[in-house]
Amino acid sequence: MNHTALIAALRATRVLPVIEIEEAANAAPLAHALAEGGLKAVELTLRTASACEALAAAKKAEPELVVGMGTVLDEAGARRAIDAGADFLVTPGAPPALLQSLIGLGVPFLPGVATASEAMAARAAGVTLMKFFPAEPAGGTAYLKALSGPLPDLTFCPTGGVGPDAAPAYLALKNVVCVGGSWLAPRELIGARDWDAIRANARRAVAL
Ligand code: 3PG
Repeated sequence: MNHTALIAALRATRVLPVIEIEEAANAAPLAHALAEGGLKAVELTLRTASACEALAAAKKAEPELVVGMGTVLDEAGARRAIDAGADFLVTPGAPPALLQSLIGLGVPFLPGVATASEAMAARAAGVTLMKFFPAEPAGGTAYLKALSGPLPDLTFCPTGGVGPDAAPAYLALKNVVCVGGSWLAPRELIGARDWDAIRANARRAVAL
């Protein structure tokens, strides 16, 4: 998937569920529930031993769903995610060495930034789509709106403390492509295999 196709998918989905999955066996029904709920993209996280297996299973179950891997902290993790079939990568921060490694891997990625300086460093590396993280503690909609003045060519996926109540205000900003959040498919609902609740959360998110 190229960068342009990724932006189109994120714009179409509006809300990017951020998911921590313990059991790879849950990945297929989870992917079905999110896709049936109308979402176009999802971010799994490299926080559990089964994350890569889960990503491969989600892709197999819902080939049209754009499946990314988040919590990528180093090149080794990025390579594992790409080998599993990740369509895109997400990092919580943007250390320059990691940015350069990821550019070399050729898969689109959203580096995490929380300040104007970090956004400028990512921009200097050629990146124009970023994760604004952690969005609420880092300044929320006011901060993102302020960034759009000096950095009008940058777009963001704010994530971190963003729930369904805060999401519409972010989505109304011209420099926001989508919002990310764990509220759609929290660990408890996945653990309980409550696919109906997750599907309903996805439907509500699409309607935001
Ligand atoms: C992330 O990694 O992006 C966050 O854990 C998601 O943030 P949230 O749980 O506050 O939605």
